[in-house]
Amino acid sequence: MTHIVRKNVKGDLIEAGVWRGGASMLMKAVLDAYGDTKRHVVLADSFRGVPKPKQPRGDHGDELHRISGYLGVPREKVQEHFSRYGLLDDRIEFVEGLFEKTMPQLAGRRWSLIRLDGDLYESLMPPLEHLYDGLSRGGFVIIDDYNTFPQAEQAIADFREQRRVTAPLRRIDEHAAFWCKS
Ligand SMILES: C[S@@+](CC[C@H](N)C(=O)[O-])C[C@H]1O[C@@H](n2cnc3c(N)ncnc32)[C@H](O)[C@@H]1O
Repeated sequence: MTHIVRKNVKGDLIEAGVWRGGASMLMKAVLDAYGDTKRHVVLADSFRGVPKPKQPRGDHGDELHRISGYLGVPREKVQEHFSRYGLLDDRIEFVEGLFEKTMPQLAGRRWSLIRLDGDLYESLMPPLEHLYDGLSRGGFVIIDDYNTFPQAEQAIADFREQRRVTAPLRRIDEHAAFWCKS
């Protein structure tokens, strides 16, 4: 975030997979703290949890859907969280629905940060496919669960191969990884 603001990497920020909104709130709080009054933060989510896998797969997708009561946080609740910390204004955009449906509408926009936290292969691919062309050089892709779910690692490997992305993938911690678009 600080790199984006200091180096003036062009574009808005998006989190695809918001849950209670904590990571998106941090994005907005950093923008506010640095006096960045232009960028928008886009919160994309079903706000109903992880979609039901088309068929039981015996992997974490079944379990994540089963706990949708926990992972599905209504948009109003997330708005309330932003409000509580004075972060809700017209630069916070809510994009509600499954990524397969909503991501095509966001193609063509300019991004400085794409944060992926949808957990499943099919929840990581649509944001990458529809948003990556709009990511500025010097902007970032963060994959929250790269080291947690093998599916997340697979989606990233497939996308990077398809698009011939050679920028180094860097580990953040035991879960997350990122790369900077070169
Ligand atoms: C692990 S939670 C996100 C956690 C959050 N980023 C954080 O740091 O606190 C995963 C979120 O992805 C959303 N999600 C997963 N797959 C989705 C899909 N295909 N379309 C829309 N939302 C999806 C779920 O509703 C859930 O809110």
